Amino acid sequence: MSSVLFVCLGNICRSPLAEGVFRQLVLEAGLEMQIDSAGTGDWHVGHEPDVRSQAVALKNGIDISQLRARQLEAQDFNRFRFIIGMDDSNLTNLKAWEPANHSADVRLLLDFAPHLGLRTVPDPYYGTEKDFEETYRLVRAGAEGLLKAIKT
Ligand code: 4NP
Repeated sequence: MSSVLFVCLGNICRSPLAEGVFRQLVLEAGLEMQIDSAGTGDWHVGHEPDVRSQAVALKNGIDISQLRARQLEAQDFNRFRFIIGMDDSNLTNLKAWEPANHSADVRLLLDFAPHLGLRTVPDPYYGTEKDFEETYRLVRAGAEGLLKAIKT
């Protein structure tokens, strides 16, 4: 039907959370989609999501403990219909990976949640548990809007 790759810097805080939330929404909607996440950086390749992302996900009934970080690949631009970044620096980094010809729609997650009045999902890595609660709220709104957009 469609396919979505969520991208952030490390693939341990925001994009695995977005992947987990979106997977849940797609499952609840009875749909099938190829869903993944990746980081533009390689520092955390093979690592499980940050414990604070895992905790906020679990608090909301979503288990992301099985996810493992991977780095973005140029081929992803031809594997996924949507490539969804979290902030402007993700978009800048995505540009550097972008092949000359590809079929992906590269967007910011919060493009799909205009009612929030926010453009980006801030990096919570150096933040507190409260920042991860906010990350969850933003990611959830973006994921809901993205699914709605794909369905219509
Ligand atoms: P993420 O957060 O991009 O949401 O996964 C970060 C995780 C790790 C680092 C930066 C951001 N880091 O610098 O290691």
